Amino acid sequence: MRRLFPVTYETADHLGREGTGEAPAAAEPRDGAWSLDALADAYAYPPQAAEAPWLRANMVSTLDGAAQHDGRSQPISNDTDMRIFGTLRGLADVVVVGAQTVRQEGYRPARAREAFAARRAAAGQGAAPSIAVISASLDLDFTLPLFTEPLVPTYVITGSGAPADRIGAARGSGAEVLLAGEGAAVEADRAVAALAERGHRRLLTEGGPRMLGQFVAGGVLDELCLTVSPMLTAGDAQRIAGGSVLRVPERFELVSLLEEDGFLFTRYGRRRH
Ligand SMILES: NC(=O)c1ccc[n+]([C@@H]2O[C@H](COP(=O)([O-])OP(=O)(O)OC[C@H]3O[C@@H](n4cnc5c(N)ncnc54)[C@H](OP(=O)(O)O)[C@@H]3O)[C@@H](O)[C@H]2O)c1
Repeated sequence: MRRLFPVTYETADHLGREGTGEAPAAAEPRDGAWSLDALADAYAYPPQAAEAPWLRANMVSTLDGAAQHDGRSQPISNDTDMRIFGTLRGLADVVVVGAQTVRQEGYRPARAREAFAARRAAAGQGAAPSIAVISASLDLDFTLPLFTEPLVPTYVITGSGAPADRIGAARGSGAEVLLAGEGAAVEADRAVAALAERGHRRLLTEGGPRMLGQFVAGGVLDELCLTVSPMLTAGDAQRIAGGSVLRVPERFELVSLLEEDGFLFTRYGRRRH
C-alpha cells in the first residue's frame, strides 16, 4: 500500500519531483502491507476527540456507488479494507450501527486484539470497543453472543416509545439500553450525546446507509473513511447514505488517501468554518 495524500518525501521522490526535505515516516512503507501499528498511526483520532465526541464513519462503495452486493458489503471489500476496518475498531471507544446491518451482516461482539492492547490501555479504553445497536422495533435476537457474551456490554439505543417488552428483553440479555428519542425513533444527535455521557468520545459508525444518512442530516458526522472499491455492480443497490436530502450539501476535505491494488482508502473530515 502507498500513501498518495498528503504527499510525503518518498511519494514526491517517486514522482520525480523535489522532495520536501522531511524524513519519510519509517512506519509507512511505500509498497507492501502496512503493519497494524502503521495503520493505527495513520488513522489516529484527532486531538479534538479528547474533549468532545468525534463521530467517524467507515464505509465501502463501488465505483458506481453501491454500498452492498447481494445484501452484504463483503463482496465489494478486500483484505486491506478489512485490515483498516479492524484498525478503526481498534481505535474506537464504541461502534455504532443500525439494526439492519446487525441483522444482515451477523454482527458479533468486537474482539480484544493484542495489536491494539497497549494503545488502548494508554488511551484509557477497555479491551475492545462496545457495539451500540440503533433500533426502533428492537426486533433483534437477544440470545446472540453480541448481547450475551461481549467483553464490554453492548448498548441498544432506542426511543422511549419503543415496545416495553422488547426493552425488557434487551436489558435481560445484559445489554445496556439508552433512550435517545421521544417516540420509538432515535434522534442522531441524542444518540451521540448519550454515548458521550458515558465517556465515549471516539465514536465509529459502520452504517448502514439509512443510519449514516441520519448522522449526516443531524450534522453530527465529523469524518468519513470511505473505501472506493474498483468494481462496478450496476443495479439498484443502496449507496452509502440514504434518507432525506440535505438542503445544502455538506463540504468535506481530504485528510488522507492510501492506495493498494486499485482500492482507494480515503479519509475526509468535515470542513470547519
Ligand atoms: N458499504 C458499507 O460500508 C456498508 C456498511 C454497513 C452496511 N452496509 C449494507 O447496508 C445494508 C443495511 O443497511 P440499511 O441502510 O438497510 O440499514 P441500517 O442503517 O443498518 O439499519 C436500519 C435500521 O436501523 C434502525 N434505525 C435506523 N434509524 C433509526 C432511528 N432514527 N431510530 C431508531 N432506529 C433506527 C431501524 O431498525 P429497526 O428496524 O430494528 O427498528 C432500521 O430498520 C446491508 O446490506 C449491509 O450489508 C454496507
